[in-house]
Amino acid sequence: MRYNIAVIPGDGIGPEVVGQAQSVLDSVGWKFGHSFGFHPALMGGCAIDATGVPLPDETVELCKGSDAVLLGAVGGPQWEALPGHLRPEAGLLAIRAELGLYANLRPAILHPALIGACPLRPELVDGGFDLVFVRELTGGIYFGKRGRQGDTAFDTETYSVYEIERVGRVAFELALKRGNRLCSVDKANVLETSRLWREVMHSLRAEYPGVDYSDMLADNAAMQLIRGPRRFDVIVTSNMFGDILSDEAGMLTGSIGMLASASIGGGTLGLYEPVHGSAPDIAGKDKANPIAAILSAAMLLRVSLGLEKEARAVETAVTSALDAGYRTADIWSEGCKLVGTREMGSVIVENMI
Ligand code: IPM
Ligand code: MG
Repeated sequence: MRYNIAVIPGDGIGPEVVGQAQSVLDSVGWKFGHSFGFHPALMGGCAIDATGVPLPDETVELCKGSDAVLLGAVGGPQWEALPGHLRPEAGLLAIRAELGLYANLRPAILHPALIGACPLRPELVDGGFDLVFVRELTGGIYFGKRGRQGDTAFDTETYSVYEIERVGRVAFELALKRGNRLCSVDKANVLETSRLWREVMHSLRAEYPGVDYSDMLADNAAMQLIRGPRRFDVIVTSNMFGDILSDEAGMLTGSIGMLASASIGGGTLGLYEPVHGSAPDIAGKDKANPIAAILSAAMLLRVSLGLEKEARAVETAVTSALDAGYRTADIWSEGCKLVGTREMGSVIVENMI
C-alpha cells in the first residue's frame, strides 16, 4: 500500500530529526512492503522567511490531502520579536485548528534502561512508568479571545459541552485499550470551565463502567506526578493544563528528547510531532536526539494508518538501540556509547532490518 505523508521539517533541529524519522519509515516500507511518499511543506520560521506567514495555505491544503502529517519543530530566536499572530508558534496552533485535531496524545514512558536519567529517586519509579496525556488541543485559553485594554491584558477560557465530550471520549476509549484507569485533571474549585469539564466527564463515566475514573485538581496533579508517576495511566485535561503537565511528565522520563505525540481529530488524519522544540542552540550539529521524532512516526503508523505491527517494530528497534547502550548527549550516562543524530537513526534502522 502507498501512503502519502506531508512532511513539515520546520526550524532548528526539526529537519535533522524528521530526516531520521523518514529513514525509519522507509525501512518499515522495505520490511513490510509499503511505500511512503513524502511531500515536504513549509511551516514556522522558515515559512515566515519564505512567504511572510507562519502557515501558508498550500501547506494546509497539502496536509488535508495526505494520510498523515509528520512535523519536526518550529521557532527560534530570530522570530521572537514578531507580533503574536505572525510568530512560528501561531502556525502550529493554526494547523491544529485547520485540521480539526482536537486531541493530543502524549505518552510519557520511562524506559527501564533510562531509570538513571529520571530525576526522581529510583524507588519512586521502580520498573519505570508508562502514562499518556490526552490534552484538549483546539479550545480553551489558547484559542479564546485575548487582547489589551489600556494597561490591562486578558485571555479567556471557553469550553463547550461538545468540545469536552469529544476529547473525553478519546480518553475513555484509550483507557479501555490500556490499563483501564483515567484521571481527569481540572481546577473545578475555581474555574467555571473546569466545573463544566467535570460534569461532562462524569456523564461520560456512566458509559464506561469498565474504566476506573478519578478527578484531580491541576495543582495536586503537578505534585502527584512527582510523588509517584506510576499511579497514572491515562490523564485527560484541558489545553493549558495539558501543555504544562505533559512537559513536567516529560522531564520525568529523563529527556524531552524521547517524547512523541499524536494530534488527532474525527477522522484518520493526524499530525505527529516530537514534544521537544526546535533547540536552535544545537541545530545543525548532529547532536539532537531523533528518538522523539522516530517514536512519533511509530504513532503515525499505529493511529493514522492502522499499522500496529509496523509501529511495534519501530518501538522495539528503539528499545534495542537503548538496551545496546546507544545514547545521544541528552540521555548519555557513564558507560554508554555517545552517538549523534544520524548514528542513532542508523542504529535504529539497522535494528529494523
Ligand atoms: C506544545 C508547545 C506549543 C503549545 C506552543 C509552541 C504553541 O508548547 O506543543 O506543547 O503550547 O501547544
Ligand atoms: Mg508545550
